[in-house]
Amino acid sequence: MLYGRRKGPKLSAHQRHLLDHLLPQFELQLNSGADPRAYFSPPPCGEVEKPQAQRSGFSGGGITLDDRPPPGSLRSPTSPQGGGKFQVDDVWLEIGFGGGEHLIWQAQQRANIGIIGAEPYVNGVVKLLAHLESAPIPNIRIHSCDAREIIEALPDASLGRTFILFPDPWPKARHHKRRFIQMEMLNELARVMKPGAELRFASDDAGYVEWSLERFMAHPSFEWTATNVADWLSRPADWPPTRYEAKKLHGKPAFLRFLRR
Ligand SMILES: C[S@@+](CC[C@H](N)C(=O)[O-])C[C@H]1O[C@@H](n2cnc3c(N)ncnc32)[C@H](O)[C@@H]1O
Repeated sequence: MLYGRRKGPKLSAHQRHLLDHLLPQFELQLNSGADPRAYFSPPPCGEVEKPQAQRSGFSGGGITLDDRPPPGSLRSPTSPQGGGKFQVDDVWLEIGFGGGEHLIWQAQQRANIGIIGAEPYVNGVVKLLAHLESAPIPNIRIHSCDAREIIEALPDASLGRTFILFPDPWPKARHHKRRFIQMEMLNELARVMKPGAELRFASDDAGYVEWSLERFMAHPSFEWTATNVADWLSRPADWPPTRYEAKKLHGKPAFLRFLRR
């Protein structure tokens, strides 16, 4: 069960065009058990066909979200993303990338790392696509759906880093079961992360920070790297602010880093 919104304000014709024509070039074709480096071979071509509206004044009518192939649908291992020589050395995962600002920054810093972003909120996905339209980044793949589907499909010890940045805090006690951080999820993340891999978690909700720390500290496979308060109250240099963080909705953010033992 996925909690939270899939859709926000109505999409423009151009945004729908990006979903229909650009998303397929970057969309992850889940292949259960496959080495995730295979998702990055070959890179997407990055060529974007101009929307009809821009070519001929076409209004965009008739293109609907429902015309899209189901996101995250399983494809055969013979898909182009499943074969060929690996073009990235390692794969990282960002869970709930929002508008994709952090994902873009990380991918631009590390051309040799393939970064998978999962985000079910369509309006967030189109923000990332708008950026990729003007500046294609070949080491990004998008899963426009629930991150848990990717995690389930990954083989053991296959991820080099995981980002969970400002996940929905679900502050009411009756909604705590909706929080992404649950012991069962930590078991799954421990399974798919490589020994020594880092998991980065940020939240500005003190209750969610406490909840997450309790669970990470109780989990035998994760070790918190902080040795003093400054370690988790100050932002590491390679951790740019996200759009949600910039809104400063709650308290001071905590930047937690855990290592997979
Ligand atoms: C509060 S927003 C933060 C977005 C972004 N990380 C940022 O800091 O700007 C949380 C995001 O997590 C996404 N999300 C919620 N559940 C998810 C899931 N199971 N898999 C992937 N993303 C999820 C939501 O759609 C939402 O965009």
